[in-house]
Parts: sequence; C-alpha cells; structure tokens
Amino acid sequence: AWNGLAPTPPMGYNNWSYYQCNINEGLILAQAKALVSSGLAKKGYDTITIDDCWMAKKRNSDGELAGDPQKFPHGMAWMGQQVHALGLKFGIYEDAGDKTCAGFPGSWNFFQKDADTFAKWKVDYIKLDGCNVPTVPGKTSEETYRYAYKSFSDAILHTHRKMVYSESAPAYFQNTPDDWYLVLGWVADYGNLWREGDDIALGQYSGPRKWKSLNYNYSYNVGLWKYAGPGHWNDPDFLLVGDSGLSIDEMQSQMSLWAIMAAPLISSTDLTKISPAALAVLSNTDVIAVDQDPAGVQGHIVQFGETYDVLAKPLSNGDVAVVLYNKGDAPKKIKTTATLVGLKNASSLKLKNLVSKAMTTSQGDIETTVPSHGSVIYRVSAQ
Ligand code: GLA
Repeated sequence: AWNGLAPTPPMGYNNWSYYQCNINEGLILAQAKALVSSGLAKKGYDTITIDDCWMAKKRNSDGELAGDPQKFPHGMAWMGQQVHALGLKFGIYEDAGDKTCAGFPGSWNFFQKDADTFAKWKVDYIKLDGCNVPTVPGKTSEETYRYAYKSFSDAILHTHRKMVYSESAPAYFQNTPDDWYLVLGWVADYGNLWREGDDIALGQYSGPRKWKSLNYNYSYNVGLWKYAGPGHWNDPDFLLVGDSGLSIDEMQSQMSLWAIMAAPLISSTDLTKISPAALAVLSNTDVIAVDQDPAGVQGHIVQFGETYDVLAKPLSNGDVAVVLYNKGDAPKKIKTTATLVGLKNASSLKLKNLVSKAMTTSQGDIETTVPSHGSVIYRVSAQ
C-alpha cells in the first residue's frame, strides 16, 4: 500500500455522530480516558479523532490552522501530547475543499501547509472530508476531487510522518454512479480508508432511524468487497453501539456486520456512560479478531432471502467467519451449508458462536434461530 499503514482496519473513537460540533478539550479527553479505562484501547481501539469544528474561524497570520481558542485553549499540539500520554493515537479532521462541512477553513490550496501543521502536532490519523470542493474550469468534479485527494496524500508523504489517511471522497459521488466508480478506482492509491454510504445516524436520532441508517450503510458497503484489503478499507461509518434507541441485538448486528466486512471499528457514542452490555459488544475479542484478521478479506453475502443475509469471510488460518443476519421483524430460522460458506470439502464442521462462546459440531449444515434484527456470528473450522 502507498504508506504501509493500516494493515488491518483502523479502530478507535470519533466524536462526530454523538456530539457533532459541541466539543472541547475536556470532552475529548474524557472520551480518550474512557477508551483506556473501559479496556477498549487494549482491545485495539487505539485512535481518538477530533471531528469538524475544532478550528478557529480563520487561519493564523502565517496561514496555519489553529484550534478554536475557546474550545481548545491549550492548543492542538497539547491535545496531541495528552492523547499520546494516554497511549493513544491522535486523529484530526480536515476537508479537501475551501471550507469544512461546518464552515471552518478547508485545506484547498493549503494541502502541504496543513499536512506539515498536522505532522508538527504529531497527528497520527487524518480524516479528509469532501465538502465545498471548488469547481475548476476545464475539470470534472471527479477530476478535481482526485487532484485534491492526491495532493493531500503527496503532502502527507512529504512530511515523513506516518499518518493514516481517511478519504471521504466516494460518499460525495453516491448520486453519480459513473463518477463514483472512477473514484473507487483511485482511493486505494492515495489513502488507507474511504467513506461509503450516508453519514450514519446522529446520537440524538430515534432508534428506528439509527436502525435504518446502519442497514443502509451495510447494504451499500457489503457489495464493495473487491476494493478492500490490507492498507485500504471501505468505511461504512461509525459504530453506534452504546447509543440509546438500539437494542442489544441491533448493536450486536452492527458489530458483527462491520467485523465480517473488515470495516474500520470507530465508536461514536458517549463512552463515559456506556452500559456494560454495550461495552461487552464492542469488547468481544473473538469478533474483533474477525475484523482484524491479517488476510484482510472483506466478507460478502453468500446467500440471502427477503429478510435475511448469510455472509462469509475467509480467515487467515483457513477458518471461515459466518454471520447469519435476520433483518426481519420476527425471529427466523436461518440455514446455510458448508459449501455455500466456502468449506466445500469438509466432512464435518466445528462451530464457535463468537458471542455465547458455545461450541457445536455439524455434518455440513449451519442452522440456527436468529432473533429479530439480530445476528449470529460463528467461526467455522473444517475437520
Ligand atoms: C460530513 C461527514 C461527517 C462529519 C461532518 C462534519 O457530513 O461525512 O462524518 O465529519 O461532515 O461536519
């Protein structure tokens, strides 16, 4: 990959879907501390990213970005030090256009300057959004985005600091499929992950709206498995695990689906108040291992019906992760086979349910009853 980073999908925390612009240094540090004290950092959630609205309204007299003096009175370099002192990596948001989505100074025409500033602040992860990218005479919008995202990528390399690069570009071409495919043709050359689908539902939205939103992004992302691999990942946006309005079964479905899609696992909730049950969903080492499997294959749908999907993801040791997902409003018996999940020649299967930890064996069928909106995730070994 272009910079050798993100051999497995990035993991961490971003404040956006829960807090949006209502951020300050105390709040970010409280979430960073909760990442550590909850045990999530040790499980791999090691990057805390400050999203939009951290900036002062204007660049300083040297043309450099600066933190909002009210929200971040100690400045962004200090934020980075605090985050690093907790053993975490420091992520920050910018935008490829002339303004961020919330109207703060964008990086357009300042790509190298901003990459240098971020390197100076010891940033480890950059999310580059795609609002307000200007129209350039003689260039299509897709060409202009390509120019901007490549320029920032080159600028990162010039800093000689290792910074993971998250590109929002594809999400800006959802309604123009021809251009979207062109964008998918270059994102992996310049960055480590890229946004697909819509913005996931905000924390203040209702449960049904969150459920709809995570299903939309799942459906959008699941077909894109050919584009993912070590160093370059499809990103269907944040985990809402812990938010109000979602049942534990729904949270587990998002976690299992994101893991089998080798999606970045980026929590965006209030970690200082997360329930033990939701924390257990995020912390499940066996499910995280499916996401972080070194083979880096994005799982895909191998069987489906009107209200269910079966997904399979080949793992590096020859096992296969399988998710039986019930999207419907009633419990459903879902049945698949060794052949469909890619274990054709197995005479018998050993199944580990990665949530209950129950071990079972089978002569070839994989069958269980799945609760409404729930999912069952197995690690399957051929015997
Ligand atoms: C866009 C992005 C979101 C968030 C906001 C910030 O909508 O997709 O993830 O970064 O901008 O303004």
